[in-house]
Amino acid sequence: MADLNVVGARPRARMSCDGRAPFGRAGGLLQVEQLSAGYGDAVVLHEVSLNLGEGQTLALLGRNGVGKTTFMDTLAGATRQHGGRITLGGVALHMLPSHARAAAGIGWVPQERNIFKSLTVHENLTAVARPGAWTPARAYELFPRLAERQGNLGTQLSGGEQQMLAVARALVLNPRLLLLDEPLEGLAPIIVEELLRAIARITREEGLSAIIVEQHPQAILAISDRAVVLDHGTVVHASDAETLRQQPELLDRLLGVSRH
Ligand SMILES: Nc1ncnc2c1ncn2[C@@H]1O[C@H](COP(=O)(O)OP(=O)(O)OP(=O)(O)O)[C@@H](O)[C@H]1O
Ligand SMILES: [Mg+2]
Repeated sequence: MADLNVVGARPRARMSCDGRAPFGRAGGLLQVEQLSAGYGDAVVLHEVSLNLGEGQTLALLGRNGVGKTTFMDTLAGATRQHGGRITLGGVALHMLPSHARAAAGIGWVPQERNIFKSLTVHENLTAVARPGAWTPARAYELFPRLAERQGNLGTQLSGGEQQMLAVARALVLNPRLLLLDEPLEGLAPIIVEELLRAIARITREEGLSAIIVEQHPQAILAISDRAVVLDHGTVVHASDAETLRQQPELLDRLLGVSRH
């Protein structure tokens, strides 16, 4: 299990793929091949393929309702998979039940920020912590606000603090791949900045691989290596993040409205 823990700072991985090469390559961390998934008989994702190298961050973008959350939830095992394969570090994730995916390296922060509201901040962290570089103490160092609120119940936290706690809970699982579904949604600008700085530190300085779904594409593209845009449950764009960031008109076209 030791090899599943991401420890310390690592050099940034080189870009390992582009949109024209959707399948896995040697050395890649995540390979998603022809993934179809949805809810019950309804298929929302249609043959989605993408991959991610070790240490890379992927910005997953798209309009409302195109399947971004369904994609993240499918990696976490919380939807019905209709076809395709998901491989994380050589492990066939799609074969595992959802409860086994954290142990396989998935650190999932769902869109609805699931924290235990009846537990304290500290209990939330110690209840799920797994051995590795990310300890509750390091999570507090990353989010000083949480350190101050250690003894507070989840119900007593602001929206921003709840989001920080949700990220911290995923980190202390010591995942190989962090899944952040709209981590900045509904938060005050000052908290957005604080979280963005923390996310950049986790990914760019500590080298943890991540997929980030976001409605503020410019901010996320600036700290991502790759970008994938979904529409109607399919991949309509895949490139390196900087290429997309430099093309605001394309971005607006892909996302439908002007974003900042
Ligand atoms: N639990 C569910 N049961 C049935 N259909 C669902 C469920 N959750 C989502 N859907 C449908 O799946 C499609 C994709 O939804 P999803 O939540 O993945 O989109 P999204 O890109 O994350 O949107 P948003 O930007 O609003 O978060 C939508 O048509 C939605 O109505
Ligand atoms: Mg969503």
